[in-house]
Amino acid sequence: MDYLLEAGGLSRRFSGVSALEHYTLRLAPGTIHGVIGPNGAGKTTLFNLLTGFLRPTSGTIRLLGQDITRLPAARVARLGIARTFQNIRLFGSMTVLEHVQAALQSRAPASLLGTLLSSPGFLRQERALREEAAALLELAGIAQRRDQVARSLPYGDQRRLEIARAVAMAPKVLLLDEPNAGMNPSETGDLLGLIRRLRDELGITIMLIAHDIPLVMNLCDRIQVLNYGRLIAEGDPAMVRNDPDVIGAYLGQAR
Ligand SMILES: Nc1ncnc2c1ncn2[C@@H]1O[C@H](COP(=O)(O)OP(=O)(O)OP(=O)(O)O)[C@@H](O)[C@H]1O
Ligand SMILES: [Mg+2]
Repeated sequence: MDYLLEAGGLSRRFSGVSALEHYTLRLAPGTIHGVIGPNGAGKTTLFNLLTGFLRPTSGTIRLLGQDITRLPAARVARLGIARTFQNIRLFGSMTVLEHVQAALQSRAPASLLGTLLSSPGFLRQERALREEAAALLELAGIAQRRDQVARSLPYGDQRRLEIARAVAMAPKVLLLDEPNAGMNPSETGDLLGLIRRLRDELGITIMLIAHDIPLVMNLCDRIQVLNYGRLIAEGDPAMVRNDPDVIGAYLGQAR
């Protein structure tokens, strides 16, 4: 089996605190992989390590066999790992469309000469970009918001815009950090449909952090449970749901 993303012995300390310890990942292509655990368990730290936003204290990360352990975040993103943030990070005064176009442009290296000459090729590229942006907004269910500035959007739509922007990077793996935080059940249901489409129609492999246990159990093929920075369980939803350690550390209180 060729894994898409692998981590081994991955650890990160913050002045004495072990946020993540000896973490292992073997992410198979085409899966929706959940990461759950109590507050402070190290879930966001894990995503920060996998995306190059943080350097590990020790351990390795490989994307399709390539060592990406110490690459900066922008390189990791261009190699195919995109993410959203637990605390939404949008540019308040930029419109929905501008966010997605900026991401599309950062993916495709713009031809400087084309820009200078406004050549027919460049104009074609511009039109393709606009069409791709429109398709992405449609997919994310925010097409009717395209000219609104990010800060004026309802919370759920801000989360969708973050996803659309990440998908615009054409990632192989998409990491979603609590994508349904602050959403009502109907919005969460729509989000579940969107995440499935990203996997099924665009072939994007998904890693997902959430505290919403029904969402995770519904959506994920495989789940890892972190507690105090350590993996305490890993398996399919039924296995994890019935694991006494998981119930003791997390599910008992989350239920
Ligand atoms: N930049 C940082 N500097 C110092 N300590 C940090 C930093 N980031 C995380 N930590 C600590 O590392 C531990 C894990 O934090 P992390 O944010 O990864 O948890 P989490 O599982 O995402 O929690 P939550 O469910 O609340 O989002 C916590 O003890 C946290 O205080
Ligand atoms: Mg977190």
